[in-house]
Amino acid sequence: MMREKINTAADFVRTKIDFVPEKAVILGTGLNSVAEMIENPVIIPYEDIPEMPISTAPSHEGKLIAGFLKNTPIIILQGRLHYYEGYSMQEITFPIRMLKNLGIKEIIITNAAGSLNKDLQPGEIVLLHDHINFMGTNPLIGENDPTLGERFPSMNEPYDFDLIKEAELIARKNNFTVKKGVYLAVTGPSFETKAECLMFAKFGADLVGMSTVPEVIVAAHAKMKVLGISVVTNLSNIFHQKEHSQEEVRANAKQAKDNLVCLLENMLSKK
Ligand code: HPA
Repeated sequence: MMREKINTAADFVRTKIDFVPEKAVILGTGLNSVAEMIENPVIIPYEDIPEMPISTAPSHEGKLIAGFLKNTPIIILQGRLHYYEGYSMQEITFPIRMLKNLGIKEIIITNAAGSLNKDLQPGEIVLLHDHINFMGTNPLIGENDPTLGERFPSMNEPYDFDLIKEAELIARKNNFTVKKGVYLAVTGPSFETKAECLMFAKFGADLVGMSTVPEVIVAAHAKMKVLGISVVTNLSNIFHQKEHSQEEVRANAKQAKDNLVCLLENMLSKK
């Protein structure tokens, strides 16, 4: 039973920390150093957590980092699971359900994404205001456990508008730019063709990536507030012929890091 596995994992984490976490962050590709924000962290490798699926992607170290950021008890998940690694939709969204069980009400989900919109350039930070699920599946398929959420959860506002406003305010106060966009999720691991990118742009998507949407659906199911943040790491195939490498993706993620750290610190700290 999913519910028992979630309880087992969360119970284990509870034995390692002596506080109830309020907010959580999931870090995307190349954004690992953001975890350095936490002072005196408790670090739990995913493989120590019973029932936790384990990540294999390069640059995705699987760790749960718990601690305080300016008096706010938080958890950072460093190293998410991707569908293209071969995990099931239920497995890649397991950490979200564990976080809910631990008491998390608000979650910031970050990712690296390719741009389908010329106004969103590599190195820019984009707040997600909506998404398109183009993965051809859904993490909520199967029997619904009503203790986890309702059968047909609304997707009216999966990205919390108040959190978006708050993030925009923080960026303005700190003199950096954030933009807004719609994220479209593909399964990967192959990158999109030019024809696919053109189609996605016509659909109304601004960004394309291989994560986030399953987690956001499960968070919405669990009635958690979500802030989705993409770091644009490359232009998609619409704009250039050149192939983009994992190295390019990582270098551009680094560039956005300082602004992202500022945004996260302010979003997470108590007001
Ligand atoms: N496509 C899909 N996923 C990605 C991309 C991209 O261009 N960049 C970073 N993740």
